[in-house]
Amino acid sequence: MSKISAIYPVFATILAAGLSAGAQDFSQNDGKVAALLSQMTLDEKIGQMVQADCMALTNASEVATYDLGSVLSGGNSDPAAGNTAQDWLDWVNGYKAEALKTRLKIPLLYGVDAVHGHNNILGAVIFPHHIGLGATHDPDLVRQAERVTAQEVAGTGIRWAFDPCVAVPQDERWGRTYEGYSDDTRWVSELGVAAIQGLQGSQLGADPQTVLACAKHYLGDGGTHNGVDQGNTECDEATLRARFLPPYAAAVKAGVGSIMVSYSSWNGVKMHSNKYLLTDVLKGELGFQGFLVSDWAAIDQIAPDYKEDVERSINAGLDMVMIPYGPGQKNNFVEFIQDLKSLVAEGKVAPNRIDDAVTRILRIKFQMGLFDGDATDPALTQAIGSPEHRAVARQCVRESLVLLKNEGHVLPLSRKIGNLVVAGEAADDLGMQCGGWTIDWQGKVGNVTPGGTTLLQAIKTTVSPDTQVRFSADGSDLAGADAIVVVVGEKPYAEMKGDTKKPDLTMDDQMLIARAQATGKPVVTILFSGRPLVLGKALQNSSALVAAWLPGTEGEGITDVLFGDYPFNGSLPRPWPKTDRQIPTLSSGGKCLFPDGFGLKN
Ligand code: BGC
Ligand code: BGC
Repeated sequence: MSKISAIYPVFATILAAGLSAGAQDFSQNDGKVAALLSQMTLDEKIGQMVQADCMALTNASEVATYDLGSVLSGGNSDPAAGNTAQDWLDWVNGYKAEALKTRLKIPLLYGVDAVHGHNNILGAVIFPHHIGLGATHDPDLVRQAERVTAQEVAGTGIRWAFDPCVAVPQDERWGRTYEGYSDDTRWVSELGVAAIQGLQGSQLGADPQTVLACAKHYLGDGGTHNGVDQGNTECDEATLRARFLPPYAAAVKAGVGSIMVSYSSWNGVKMHSNKYLLTDVLKGELGFQGFLVSDWAAIDQIAPDYKEDVERSINAGLDMVMIPYGPGQKNNFVEFIQDLKSLVAEGKVAPNRIDDAVTRILRIKFQMGLFDGDATDPALTQAIGSPEHRAVARQCVRESLVLLKNEGHVLPLSRKIGNLVVAGEAADDLGMQCGGWTIDWQGKVGNVTPGGTTLLQAIKTTVSPDTQVRFSADGSDLAGADAIVVVVGEKPYAEMKGDTKKPDLTMDDQMLIARAQATGKPVVTILFSGRPLVLGKALQNSSALVAAWLPGTEGEGITDVLFGDYPFNGSLPRPWPKTDRQIPTLSSGGKCLFPDGFGLKN
């Protein structure tokens, strides 16, 4: 921010008019920001730059003790009292209240991974993971979905979602493939912008039902060699820019207020220490006015020495650092504060770098209107998991289904079918339907959250009263069926644990489908997966096959289409490999079983 705009806010507006067309300007409060900054001690400034996980704090009062600017809940960091929306609201309000007890009463930003709905909270609506939204190819729908997510997040007092992931996954072996919309940069850019607009509203801060979005993970997280999570993206700068930068350019233009840096490296250099990409390209060239947050303990990976991690990451351009550890643990937030303080005293981190970081954080807090009060509208809390919200998710599910085969037009099924056997444990498992980042960090199998509908439940309520529906989890009881719906797929996983060398449908699943095929009756296979899986014999042994991705809690979105109330509309957001040898399979070329954009209509 220039001095002139600090003194005369009106100049800020005029200067902002020169910004690239359509970009949102966050500098209109820079006069207030500068005034506040001038009153802050170094401790207060550094405190703003800390984002501690709630589990790193022994007591919420540490927010006030250390003047913390932000707290997060990581994937497994739930409120001590329980996991309902009210538990979350009370918990978050406890931390926010502490920030208001500090000398300068700077409001706290609480952050959470709401990556497919407000997915840590019991009873919240779970949307399809991004790969499924990618299959809808529908920015308006993505905008609506994220609008609902924003309302559910705001309903728990939280005003910051670590979403959207705008990775452009280049290799199905990566366990985060499902967090990306597509392997096609243009679709990621378009749907990423829609997500940001849904979360933040048309103008960040104009509406208390919205939340701060966070485009992640900058830059090249989806391009690592062999799809290894947190790995190394090996390419020249032109490729890096062409493939991975456009979603960020579009996000900045759309006014994204925060961006999270990637664990990964580019040609051997950790992104968290890459000043050129963080400062010169993102803040300079693209004109990003918001703030950069680190990933979870990610700076710890830069060098063996933590103080060096702090120095190199802050000097590279990091504004806020996400710290999962508290006193008594390695690389904890108190150590971060002490290290950064001494680095300033030693002249290794310049005071104006600190001021720039804090200016960016305060700018967003002002822009969001947090200084004018941040009380939660009880109606928003009430509406978490409401039928209206579920209806939007249900629409997302039905638009995301991709029909890969429909021999003899077995689909749609008749509601009046006499005997329908539903086989496969995934048919009645909400956890498998939702995937990772659902209630638990890695997700889990079973009845993970109330209010959802498994596919089996949805089938039972959709068919005619005369239809017999029999469930056979292991597929041992298929006799007498007029048709068999087999539901198979991946067990839940998330980052790190989700990497695999062979993204294949398991032999057990393939055998289940083969057994169904042996009955001679129509076999409709529904696949739950976070990526295209090598199908083996499953395709030839199925009469119809539907890629349902990780659809979330609204199983009725599947029956809407299975029984013909709506047509199949989805198309592949990335190509589908036939064999492991075809992996990575990319839209940009090479052999595959189905190209991207493929999807039959029935
Ligand atoms: C993930 C991020 C996430 C953060 C907080 C990290 O491990 O890479 O996507 O936002 O944890 O849970
Ligand atoms: C946390 C996640 C985080 C992960 C990274 C988990 O324990 O719950 O939020 O992303 O650790 O290591």
